[in-house]
Amino acid sequence: MQELESSWPDDQRRELAAGLAQAAAQIAPKFFYDRLGSALFAAICQLEEYYPTRTEREVLAGCCDELASLAGAGRTLIDLGAGDCVKAEHLFARLQPRRYVALDISADFLDASLARLRREHPALVINGYGCDLTTDWSLPAEVPRDARLFLYPGSSIGNFAPEDARTFLSRLRANADADGQLLIGVDLVKDPATLVAAYDDALGVTAAFNRNVLLHANRLLGADFSLGDWRHLALFDPVRSRIEMHLEALRQVTVAWPGGARQFRAGERIHTENSYKYREKDFIELLRIAGWSNVRCWTDPRRWFAVIFAQAA
Ligand code: AVJ
Repeated sequence: MQELESSWPDDQRRELAAGLAQAAAQIAPKFFYDRLGSALFAAICQLEEYYPTRTEREVLAGCCDELASLAGAGRTLIDLGAGDCVKAEHLFARLQPRRYVALDISADFLDASLARLRREHPALVINGYGCDLTTDWSLPAEVPRDARLFLYPGSSIGNFAPEDARTFLSRLRANADADGQLLIGVDLVKDPATLVAAYDDALGVTAAFNRNVLLHANRLLGADFSLGDWRHLALFDPVRSRIEMHLEALRQVTVAWPGGARQFRAGERIHTENSYKYREKDFIELLRIAGWSNVRCWTDPRRWFAVIFAQAA
């Protein structure tokens, strides 16, 4: 892990190229988050159709007093996938953390967010690290190990398949002492129309977010994707309980980059994201297996989104 240096080294480029070369082509969702992609995601969070951000905020507003008394002041708040850091910032006043540690794949974007945060919260100790949370990451030694509170909001956990989610949650547990805590947002199963609308908004922001990954791939690989050849697709798989996002070729396309090339048939897809939706009790079971206990769960009246606090078992 490096302090705010380019977090897109060669192994990321290799992973991207390998995914494109696969029979069933795929691009991992972490590649969404170049500078523009991070800004587009922030825009998604303001959309009427994209209920998770707003619902999580409402649930947090209703539970933050209880949360603050459960967590206690003076923690090291570790923000996993901090982005614009706005969600964590909303918690500062109530949680009164001593330190704030922000991790994000988009080190560039994080750098700018932290510059703003340092101006507005001069008393808080703030560190930022470019970090790929889908690999074998761990925190640098300079981050105190005691009193850690991991923050994983927004249902980012949904990008992992349940097996990998369990591994991730176990890793969090291994990165904390006996006083470790976790605050996590989890999107819940609901009617498919609501789910699909959240990932295929009328304004086309999610489509832009999805298609932008091709521009990022062009820069990372020197590839020649042409945006006009691809359309955004969002669908819900009720069996796997996940939203899938794809990019679908509108015609036969050949894409080339130094060291590789790939042909796509008309209608062929690049799988760019899974976003798993949980039932409350299934996720709590996952937490338990991963070594987290004393689970406290808050939801909105429609039970669309859960905010869950847990302590090291
Ligand atoms: C950041 C993974 C939580 O899955 O809802 C939003 C990403 N993709 N719209 C999600 C996303 C399309 C988002 N997460």
